Amino acid sequence: MRNHIKQINYKEYDSENELTEQDKTLLDKAHDALGRAYAPYSRYRVGAALLLANGEIFTGNNQENVAYPSGLCAERVAAFAASSQYPDEPFEAIAITAQAQDFDIDSPVTPCGSCRQVLAEYEKRHQHSIRLILQGEKGKIQVIDKVEDMLPLMFHADELKKK
Ligand code: THU
Repeated sequence: MRNHIKQINYKEYDSENELTEQDKTLLDKAHDALGRAYAPYSRYRVGAALLLANGEIFTGNNQENVAYPSGLCAERVAAFAASSQYPDEPFEAIAITAQAQDFDIDSPVTPCGSCRQVLAEYEKRHQHSIRLILQGEKGKIQVIDKVEDMLPLMFHADELKKK
């Protein structure tokens, strides 16, 4: 028997001006945040801006280290900063962008598997979908309604419980 999980639904826009004012602001803040990344090793800067349900915005950017695995992605820097300040506040949306020193990024960037896992757990914990607004340095923008859509069959807390 053949089954399928689900398709990823997303909306695509040609320019920031087609976004809602809120999403445009978030995307602007993500672009701004990548300028403050610490990425001397990959020369690939990522910026994230995370909106909480209470209206607060936390930004993050990738923080690298010469001991490579010790660094952290932009999305998790933003998510952990937000959750450490407001543990009970749902995440509403996150904008993610990137810029490379040696080439142009003109298609939307997507969060890595570890960041999807982390964001998906906040989504479950708060019972609140997190909208993703994705863009490269420039070019088209993709908007995805929830992280769960990007991470089918995620590992979740129930799996740790004894049946
Ligand atoms: N990076 C992020 O910040 N977010 C992602 O979702 C993918 C990768 C960072 C990690 C590393 O500093 C650089 O991009 C190259 O992988």
